[in-house]
Amino acid sequence: MRWYRKNARELPWRETSDPYSILVSEVMLQQTQVDRVVPKYHEFLSKYPTLQALAKARVQDVKKIWYPLGYNIRPIQLHTIARETVAHYDGQLPHSDEELQSFKGIGRYTSGAIRSFAFKQDVPILDTNVRRVVLRVFLGKPRTKPSDAMMWALSDGLLPRGRTYDFNQALMDFGACICSAKVPVCLQCPMQEFCKAYRKI
Ligand code: ADE
Repeated sequence: MRWYRKNARELPWRETSDPYSILVSEVMLQQTQVDRVVPKYHEFLSKYPTLQALAKARVQDVKKIWYPLGYNIRPIQLHTIARETVAHYDGQLPHSDEELQSFKGIGRYTSGAIRSFAFKQDVPILDTNVRRVVLRVFLGKPRTKPSDAMMWALSDGLLPRGRTYDFNQALMDFGACICSAKVPVCLQCPMQEFCKAYRKI
């Protein structure tokens, strides 16, 4: 958290508490790098500023604006989420994990991201970056791959209740900027002393 206070990236979805904008960002970020998402995030939200606006749009138009990002099932799913939310949830994204994961295109990760970033719930997230950080720091290089259940439990056990929003965002930035996959910058790592993988990567 101390590292994050000094090094947080300024990202537009961190400047909003609108659940729909956060949903759009998280669906874009599922398979696309931050740098490519930022301009498209702005473009998409200026064309479809609300869930209601997206629900009213024609799916062909939504696909067209999305197209350069790739993985083009995502705009179709996002459009369906908007329509279903208007039809069944009075236009407000639901808050529960079960309801969020009932939408196609929202899995455990994205549900956790929406619940922690939009609804400020104390719930863990686990994407590739977070998994790598937690694995290295707490388990080092285990001989057998830890189960998903174990990794989720670790991520959950770490949460500083009440400050989960920042903690989860911090893990993302830390995984992207310091504890990166190929060449981690261990010399700048504040967790060096107790990291189980330090000097072993
Ligand atoms: N990747 C997925 N969600 C993210 C977020 N909120 N910030 C940075 N990278 C992300």
